[in-house]
Amino acid sequence: MTTVRTALALLALAALPLARADDPASAPTFHRDVEPILQQRCQVCHRPDGVGPFPLLTHDDVAADLPTIAEVVADRRMPPWHADPAVGTFSNSRALTDAERATLLAWIEAGGPKGDPKDAPPPREWVSDWIHGEPDAVVQTPGPFKVPARGVLDYQYFRVATDFGEDKWIRAMEVRVEAPTVVHHVLVFVQYPRGAGASPKVRGGLDGYFASALPGDQVVPFPAGSAKRLPRGSTLIFQVHYTPDGEARQDRTRLGLYFAKPDEVQREAKTVALNSTGFAIPPGAKGHEVRARYVFDQDTILVGLTPHMHLRGESFRYLLLLPDGTHRPVLSIPRYDFNWQTTYRLAEPMFVPKGARMMGIATFDNSAGNPANPDPTRTVYFGEQTTDEMMIGYMDVVPATADERAAWEAATQGPASPIDLPPAGQ
Ligand code: HEC
Repeated sequence: MTTVRTALALLALAALPLARADDPASAPTFHRDVEPILQQRCQVCHRPDGVGPFPLLTHDDVAADLPTIAEVVADRRMPPWHADPAVGTFSNSRALTDAERATLLAWIEAGGPKGDPKDAPPPREWVSDWIHGEPDAVVQTPGPFKVPARGVLDYQYFRVATDFGEDKWIRAMEVRVEAPTVVHHVLVFVQYPRGAGASPKVRGGLDGYFASALPGDQVVPFPAGSAKRLPRGSTLIFQVHYTPDGEARQDRTRLGLYFAKPDEVQREAKTVALNSTGFAIPPGAKGHEVRARYVFDQDTILVGLTPHMHLRGESFRYLLLLPDGTHRPVLSIPRYDFNWQTTYRLAEPMFVPKGARMMGIATFDNSAGNPANPDPTRTVYFGEQTTDEMMIGYMDVVPATADERAAWEAATQGPASPIDLPPAGQ
């Protein structure tokens, strides 16, 4: 099969220590070499309760279609992770290391030998309930929502009023769904009650969100000592993106909240956003660029990033413009995939000085060559439905302390970084 040949050609190019693949005696085996990788990198989705379309637990599961596995691993479609490895390091990266990829491909090349079951790692236990234990409170959609077997569904919105009798500080959250194979993402927005301060704009989530989750990545951590504020009497608005998978299903989405004691909270965690709503993407356009900026009005620690576009989204970059005139790429998604609304969590949270600007540079593909494009003959504008477009760059932030500023000043005495600003767009 061509696919296997492509995979093997890539393998040869990688020039990794694969000589043992030629020697059947020392070829990687399922139990010793492959099973640990599957446990680590695949089973979070490819198990009976996961979002993946089939399990990858046993030798039989995997041996059923070795060429397809070789193909998706070699061309990096699986595990799904879209960040350019040359830009930034992310603590929740799902990507295989080069060594893991080489082992999987060498094993498939060797015909997928099982090896000795005595070499197998203990089976990985998956928590099928709340990962961090029972939450302090659970907010759920009215449900059950019936998801049809096929078709394209508009985003569903569910409003749920809360009343905890007082303002609450949320130190962690977890989203749980009942039908993981059809829930591609959940965003939760908050609407404050009257008198509790300016509410973030809910329309389209342009200013930020309260929580965001993908199946397989549903725990929302905040930096130690920080928490999100939920004013008393707020309404939570769940946006759920359902993608039918061939079988009629029912879902109900729950948000587990873990409260912090007010005296444990040193700073307020927030999700802010850069966005553009004034764009018009011409029919057939490819590489159509849209930019937006966010100005940091205080010293900030940047924790995570979530680019958001719809079906015509093509690429997305975040570029930090520092007050001294230098620029720094923070995240680059060269091939954006609407199905994966991933939050990219920085392995090293980044100090951003007051006055810095984050530039989001998105491109859209409204051509017939984009297989996800519902209509290449239409001019596309901002809108909330998936057939309209959005250009939002979410950022998870907490305010920085004076100590963090001092550490940053001490560390940035060197020469300016030589990164070129891309040519001006609109
Ligand atoms: C974060 C969840 C997730 C992880 C991790 C993941 N997968 Fe998948 N996989 C999916 C989903 C969902 C699909 C269905 C297609 C899609 O939506 O992209 C899929 C589809 C596939 C397919 C079928 C592709 C096709 O074109 O028919 C293969 C093969 C596969 N995965 C292998 C793997 C392997 C091997 C790993 C680990 C190295 C892995 N996946 C890790 C979620 C995941």
